[in-house]
This record gives sequence, structure tokens and C-alpha cells, in this order.
Amino acid sequence: MLYIIDTANIEKISYCVSTFPIAGVTTNPTIISREKADFFALIKGIRDIIGKERMFHIQLTGDTADKMLREAEILRGVVGDNLYVKIPISEEGLKATMALHKDGYHVTETAIFTQQQALMAAMAGADFVAPYVNRLDNIVSDGVNVVAEIVELFTRYRLSSRVLAASFKTAEQVHKISMVGGHAVTVSPEILSTLIYHPLTMYAVDDFKADWESVYGKATICDMADPQKSGTEGE
Ligand code: G3P
Repeated sequence: MLYIIDTANIEKISYCVSTFPIAGVTTNPTIISREKADFFALIKGIRDIIGKERMFHIQLTGDTADKMLREAEILRGVVGDNLYVKIPISEEGLKATMALHKDGYHVTETAIFTQQQALMAAMAGADFVAPYVNRLDNIVSDGVNVVAEIVELFTRYRLSSRVLAASFKTAEQVHKISMVGGHAVTVSPEILSTLIYHPLTMYAVDDFKADWESVYGKATICDMADPQKSGTEGE
């Protein structure tokens, strides 16, 4: 499963890509607007940090297929390859998706809330569909089940589209998506940290440290390999 980060904050992206196995960045107009920055400078800055090998999902803002096609062309000129243009599902969005797919663009159909929206987007050529898990849970619509059925449909019809589950508030939601075969999740940097947190892990590491120091003091393996350099052996 691919882990992607759902933020446009340069500092957070920089920290996450150096710390976690991150496959890319997703943004939307809400996330971009939080940074209150020049749009093009911001997306160029994000591309510089994540490099060309990671996916960069940027949402289009046009409300007609023609405007979306022009925006996609502009974005590709600015951030280059490995761009995934995000398009909220709509009739104009599907029209744009089919045209962009034909022209070799990667498309992520977003704001997906139903299995049929996802299937239609996949048939139009979307590389990813992005169902909003927590927003479905908020209306008692079981986001994980919607994702599970989309995965099942893509498998049943042998579609190459993948599910990029979005909108998470808990580690439990993310875990359940991995259990139903979601291909990717996009999460906040905060959720990303939560995914590896466990108090028992911290207790275990504290115990390892205390036991080590009871015999070797503050000396590390590096110190003991080269005691003259560090001068801390046996401290
Ligand atoms: O990628 C879509 C996501 O940003 C929506 O998340 O938390 O606003 O429901 P949220």
C-alpha cells in the first residue's frame, strides 16, 4: 500500500519525505489555501522537495472540461512528469478525464462517495479514484465498506485504476483500508506519525536503553568501535 501525504506545507512535506516511505503528495484547493502562498511558487517548491520520482496530485479548479484541459497543460509545464491532475467527479470532469487520459495525462478522480462514481471514473480512464473515508463515516455510510466494494469492482472487471483512499481522522480507518486492499492512502502528517506510535514500543526502547547504560554507560556502538575519536568509552 502506498502512503501519500495530504498537505501543501513545505516544512511538513520536507520532514515526512525524509522520515517515512512516502510515494507522493496530494493537495486540493482547501489544502493549498491554508498556506496563503503564491500558488505557482508553492507547487514548484513542493516538486523540488519531493523530487521527480514521487507522485504529485494537484487539483484543477476549472468548471468546464475545456478549462480543465488548459489547467492540466499549465500544471504539467510547471511541475513536469509524475503529475496527477485531480478532478472532482462530475459530467464535465469525466469529459476532461477521457480527453486527458487520451493525451497521456495521469488523472485522479476525487470527491468520490459512491461505488458507481468510482467505477465510472475508472471506465473514463482515471488512474486513481479518491473516496473520502471519514466524510462517509461522518454520515454513517461506512467509508471502509465503500472502499472495499470499489476495490472489488476494480478487481472483478480487471481495471487498472487504483483506489487512493482519502479523508482520515484515525489510524484505525487507515488500517482497515489496508485490510480491504486499498492501493494507497493519503493522510495528514499527524496521522502518519500516529500510525507508528505505540506506548509499549516506547517502554521497550526505554528498557533497552537503561539495560545498555547499566553496563556501558553513555558509550554508543560507534564510540566503542573508535574510542579515541569519541573519548566516551565506559563513561
Ligand atoms: O484528500 C482529500 C482530503 O483532503 C479530504 O480530507 O479531512 O477534509 O475530509 P478531509
